[in-house]
Amino acid sequence: MPFYKDHVYPYLVSALGNPKPIEDIRRRIVPLAQGIVLEIGVGPGVNFVHYDPAKVNKVYALEPNPGMLRRAEEQRRRAQLDIEFLDLPGERIPLADASVDTVVSTFTLCTIPGVAEAIEGLRRVLKPGGKLIFFEHGLSPDPPVRRWQKRSEPLFRWAFEGCHVTRDIPSLIGKGYFNIEQVDAGYLSPFPKSGSYCWWGVAVPELSK
Ligand SMILES: C[S@@+](CC[C@H](N)C(=O)[O-])C[C@H]1O[C@@H](n2cnc3c(N)ncnc32)[C@H](O)[C@@H]1O
Repeated sequence: MPFYKDHVYPYLVSALGNPKPIEDIRRRIVPLAQGIVLEIGVGPGVNFVHYDPAKVNKVYALEPNPGMLRRAEEQRRRAQLDIEFLDLPGERIPLADASVDTVVSTFTLCTIPGVAEAIEGLRRVLKPGGKLIFFEHGLSPDPPVRRWQKRSEPLFRWAFEGCHVTRDIPSLIGKGYFNIEQVDAGYLSPFPKSGSYCWWGVAVPELSK
């Protein structure tokens, strides 16, 4: 359904993806980015205004959906940053090994079909000592909420182009040979609990892999 994917979905993400509790956390974590940054699944580009131009040299903004890119282009004009769009999926990052200081992923690892492959790619492009800043939603620790999440997963996947509410994102990041240095978690209103259990924090590539 190209019309849904290129128009309705970008509209829904723009309309629903940045209520105040979520924006407050974006405002806290995105400025941790520094140097050369890769943001995956930038969507409508709501994070751009939160980068600190004094710390960031360049942002590679990866996003495969052309409808999202049109919206992100509008945000790019508002930000005082060098932003280069990469119109590819996160499973095919077109950057060299160890070329990026910071990777940013907000509400994207829930949606990428090949999430393990994408995380492997994030690790590949990060320089030693680089950081992955993440803010994602997924599997709740509470059994009653989990039951709702399992029931509502097909609806989320349909309405939000493959979004999973049952992914345990910190576990996936750990399995991709990252150490999670810092993480907070909780339900972020105003959404139902099945769609609003979030984690936000920083992970670093394991040295030994
Ligand atoms: C829920 S939106 C989040 C957008 C934005 N990061 C934010 O925080 O509002 C998920 C984004 O992931 C993108 N996406 C879907 N499949 C992807 C893939 N394989 N690789 C990278 N991004 C993908 C979607 O097009 C969409 O822009």
